[in-house]
Amino acid sequence: MKTLRDFDLQEKTVLVRCDFNVPLDEKGNILDDFRIEKTLPTIKYLKEKKAKIILMSHLGRPEEAKDSRLREKQFSLRPVAIRLSELLKEEIKFLPGCIGKNIAKEVKKTKPGKVILLENLRFYREETEGDLNFAKELAQLADFYFNDAFAVCHRAHASVVGITKYLPSGAGSLLAREIKILSKVLQEPWHPLVVIIGGVKIDTKIKTIEQFLKKADHLLLGGEISNIFLRAKGVCVGKPLPEKEVLDRIERIQLTDSKLHLPIDSIISLADMEKGIEEGYFRKAAPGLVRKDEEIYDLGPETIKVFSRIIREAKMILWNGPMGVYEKKPFEAGTREIARAVIKNYPAFTIVGGGDTVSAVGKFGVLEKIDHVSTGGGAMLDFLSGEKLPGLEALKK
Ligand code: 3PG
Repeated sequence: MKTLRDFDLQEKTVLVRCDFNVPLDEKGNILDDFRIEKTLPTIKYLKEKKAKIILMSHLGRPEEAKDSRLREKQFSLRPVAIRLSELLKEEIKFLPGCIGKNIAKEVKKTKPGKVILLENLRFYREETEGDLNFAKELAQLADFYFNDAFAVCHRAHASVVGITKYLPSGAGSLLAREIKILSKVLQEPWHPLVVIIGGVKIDTKIKTIEQFLKKADHLLLGGEISNIFLRAKGVCVGKPLPEKEVLDRIERIQLTDSKLHLPIDSIISLADMEKGIEEGYFRKAAPGLVRKDEEIYDLGPETIKVFSRIIREAKMILWNGPMGVYEKKPFEAGTREIARAVIKNYPAFTIVGGGDTVSAVGKFGVLEKIDHVSTGGGAMLDFLSGEKLPGLEALKK
């Protein structure tokens, strides 16, 4: 795979696919800029070469927006442009779209060594569809393409895969570094290997869980994903049945595998979480004892004890996905205590990855004690489970 240094980029126009999918609060403030900071080495290298730098990224999943009227505001990359300007100590140009005549005109007007950020790629459904015409239109803006978005390499999207057909392409510094470190882990995992998976993104994680049940010694599940597994086991977790397709995929997994650990108790509140918090309605119970008007929001104390005991014995620990709604004080204990258990096992090699997980571990002040903090969440899990990532395969061609 080629990297930045394999090309003569002096005064060229360069498109860089970044992953600026950062957590934001309701007001649009960036809660964690780890992924933005990590792309600075690539940007600074290109600035030294006086290249015209066009950054592009997605933010969230606008296609799933509950209120389509708020979509443009809620998922805009404008806050990222502001943060990037602060980090680079210079004004960067934010463009309100990704393709078309006006965008091309703005790019042309930009001076060498200057930085442009395009609006959210996922405002165009062609991006997630991997549309080649869209990829070609993006490619027309530049002379070279670099992928520095490890976190999205598991998606065969237009700006990740398709675009490599139209431009000389390579890996940015961040992507190259992630692959170097994670390849070592993939080739020689230390045992006992404990994998902790939480969060909400079930689509890619089911497949990874299947793979890790073959490779890991223990697989600990928390967050929304554990609720779905409990539901698939017939335990009432106060939620409707997951879609049939999800259930079918979970059924393929050996749910009684002794390596698979699910919560044995949970912190429960009202299904309307804000109301539950306002009314101070919290209780601990086994997951099967959730009523219809309630929901699970965190691991319970007994689960924390069991998970911590397993973590204590590990030689290598991989973690992606918070254990509960860690942003809210009443539901932060699961994620906080798992973070503490991970760093207490200091002889183990520890890897944490994913936007929310890094933000959560950072919130509890222990991020610097982790051996490798990956920008990838689902991508990191896929890579370490031995899957081929479309974004990396495209760069190898
Ligand atoms: C991530 O946060 O894992 C990446 O940005 C990919 O996001 P996605 O799961 O919405 O494709």
